[in-house]
Amino acid sequence: MPENSTKCDIGFIGLGVMGKNLVLNLADNGYKVAAFDLDYEKVSALIAQDAAENQNQQPRVIGCSSYTELLAQLKTPHLIVLSVPAGEVVDQVCQNLIGAGIQPDDIVIDTGNSLWTDTVSREEKYRDNFIFFSSAVSGGEVGARFGPALMPSGSAYAWTRVKPIWSAIAAKVDSVTGKPIERSKPGQIVTQGDPCADYIGPAGAGHYVKMVHNGIEYADMQMICEAYHVLRAGLKLSCDEIANIFETWNEGVLDSYLMEISVEVLRHKEQDSDQHLVDLILDKAGQKGTGLWTAVSSLEVGCPAPTISQAVYARSISAFKELRGSAAQTLTGPMTQTIDEKEKQQIINQLHDALYCAKICAYAQGFQLMKLASTEHNWDLDFSSIAKIWRSGCIIRAVFLQSITDAFTREPNLENLLIDSFFSEQLSKYQQNWRFAVAKSTMMGIPIGAISASLSYYDSMRSAVLPANLLQGQRDYFGAHTFARIDKPDGQKFHVQWSSKDRNIVQV
Ligand code: 6PG
Repeated sequence: MPENSTKCDIGFIGLGVMGKNLVLNLADNGYKVAAFDLDYEKVSALIAQDAAENQNQQPRVIGCSSYTELLAQLKTPHLIVLSVPAGEVVDQVCQNLIGAGIQPDDIVIDTGNSLWTDTVSREEKYRDNFIFFSSAVSGGEVGARFGPALMPSGSAYAWTRVKPIWSAIAAKVDSVTGKPIERSKPGQIVTQGDPCADYIGPAGAGHYVKMVHNGIEYADMQMICEAYHVLRAGLKLSCDEIANIFETWNEGVLDSYLMEISVEVLRHKEQDSDQHLVDLILDKAGQKGTGLWTAVSSLEVGCPAPTISQAVYARSISAFKELRGSAAQTLTGPMTQTIDEKEKQQIINQLHDALYCAKICAYAQGFQLMKLASTEHNWDLDFSSIAKIWRSGCIIRAVFLQSITDAFTREPNLENLLIDSFFSEQLSKYQQNWRFAVAKSTMMGIPIGAISASLSYYDSMRSAVLPANLLQGQRDYFGAHTFARIDKPDGQKFHVQWSSKDRNIVQV
């Protein structure tokens, strides 16, 4: 709890959906906030909402109309939170704070979905003016209001000041069971349990981890959509029937926030209409870029993340609505299949197992990517702690994250989740149904790119021998790129003189 003073504990800039709700969350937890937005109507609306929720007791939020006023309202050293769009706006706000007289021991926390390399540069760039700290936030507007997952990184000193505040406003899980502790009403706070907020590492590490979180989010969402597609277009089930199936799935290993909201989206009908809204939503997916950044980073780091990349491609393909429409007139699919009730039920069960296995692979890719990036940048990431943070508050929160936490607690240096004893056993148990689901969907002509990319990933990762031997031969043939041999010592390189008559093999 903050000390009593007429000055505010925290300055807040950017009162969009996330910003406004983070301010109210801070206020519920006893922090007095000075709030500023370029659009003063947002400031007024927030003050009105605070007064209504706080039943007109002492105001917990003070509205400000300039950067100077914001600084004047704060205790020193200042602590300022930014909730502004990623990119140039962050720098514009930082420059305005410098103009308003921010001091070197003041802390500015960027909570947007910034590109992690920008965060690294900003820490350096503003070092003489103030401490640039970052904390990625996940959980959407409800999470921001009642408990998000927070991924702070940067100055360790800044973290000592931010930690009590972040621990207060973050989502919490029961310390013994790992289950989320419910908080859903204005004024309600949760003081017990483990907060879904922990120091991630040096500047950029938190935003990198949040980027991978979003990459996994893309994969998770896409795979649920693929299951829906098979059930809807392949098995011709109604939206309500699919919602019922997903609801049942949400009671077991697939229990997750994304599954839960998919049920609600599938059931939703417009007022006074029998029409399900999902059937009226245009099938063109938007994206703000974090999934793409994850896919690009996986290629740069050299970490296979085909499920995540495929989820990004699926959104890109969806955007070609017109081209797909005309191609649908000319490109043929498989012959229509007749599927009886018994087989339908089998496919539904197979899809469940496919989704579970494919999901394990998507997380395995995300965690391995973070591990390789951590080594490359000396971040020393703690994967058990990251999995713990993601157990509640964030968009990918799921029961399953407790098993990931356990895996990294058993073996903190685990190279890949697939080789953890629990997950390898789960994959062995359910892989047969996964294969059937991929085969059936393929035979029905329903694209399930992410679920099948996961299966190829699994099969590649469990292959002691891959066809890269032929590939190396091809490279050597046209580019003299050389190859190693399994029958010769490590490190020796060979080349075939392909254009010579006798094609001699030489050591190079
Ligand atoms: C979260 C979300 C949030 C946002 C993403 C995804 O963790 O709260 O990931 O950050 O929804 O920006 O956006 P797109 O799907 O538009 O890329």
